[in-house]
Amino acid sequence: MKATAKAHTNIALIKYWGKRNEELILPTNSSLSITLDLFYTETTVEFDERLTTDIFYLNGEEKGTDETAKVSRFLNHVRKLTGDTRFAIVSSQNHVPTAAGFASSASGYAALAAASSKALGLELDGKELSKLARRGSGSACRSIYGGFVEWKKGVKEDGSDSYAVPILDQKAWNLSILSVMIESKQKKILSREGMKRTVQTSPFYDGWLKATEQELRIAKKAIEKRDFEMLGETLEKNAFKMHATTLGADPPFFYWQPATLEIIDCVQHLRSQGLLAYVTIDAGPNVKVICQPDDERKVFQTLNEIDSVKEIFVCHPGPGISYL
Ligand code: PMV
Repeated sequence: MKATAKAHTNIALIKYWGKRNEELILPTNSSLSITLDLFYTETTVEFDERLTTDIFYLNGEEKGTDETAKVSRFLNHVRKLTGDTRFAIVSSQNHVPTAAGFASSASGYAALAAASSKALGLELDGKELSKLARRGSGSACRSIYGGFVEWKKGVKEDGSDSYAVPILDQKAWNLSILSVMIESKQKKILSREGMKRTVQTSPFYDGWLKATEQELRIAKKAIEKRDFEMLGETLEKNAFKMHATTLGADPPFFYWQPATLEIIDCVQHLRSQGLLAYVTIDAGPNVKVICQPDDERKVFQTLNEIDSVKEIFVCHPGPGISYL
């Protein structure tokens, strides 16, 4: 009745941006990510018939009704799968900086899916686990696997064909992903809200959908050929397009801060000197810079000289789900 799982967070190279079904969390486009070695969540779930409600601890602290309700909603999916009605104690340790743009929801829900299903005796394979994690947060479905991962959007309305598949092992291609932290304030527009508004109101959204399909194909080809320049150019273009859609929304919004642009500028400058480094940005102001391991030091040092840079975390491809 008790299980512990560990899941790493991931960074999308081709972004998931927009849902076709809010309830089932079905995306309008397929996406592609790298699972990161440095950031992860460890979660223990224990079902107990004596409990009269679910209880949720995060980093040793008991959480209030709102956060516990989210966990309960997720556990309801697992309870439904097994017919079990017991409540659970969920205890999570987040080894992810809780700052803008570092998606702890991906590792959080992936770990919760793995631990809760295991605790109830379900032996889910990667595909089923990915679908379950997706119900918590879309990007969580990719954290089931290590290395390079694609989330296939699927076409079915019941979501049965919307899940992640591994496309390249963690050890097969080492890249450096520098997570550059520029501010630690809580983000204002959550990705869920941001994508909804964009889908509903941005005239640029159709352009995003068309381009992203093509960019996914190019990114996969680049990974297959280990062509870093081709991958880098594609992932950077894709991130910029995602952010461009938000400027067309009504009311318009954007995630960038002045320091976001400073880092983009710095990376473009490095590139003009012949160093291959590229940026990607999620629903927050922080930037992830992707380069090859041989250039990691130089990129780190250059970025570290920028005043508004608070901290840089150097990541590499990480592993998929594990049970402890
Ligand atoms: O899984 P969510 O609801 O946190 O959405 C993630 C959205 C982006 O991080 C912006 C893109 C992605 O594919 O991870």
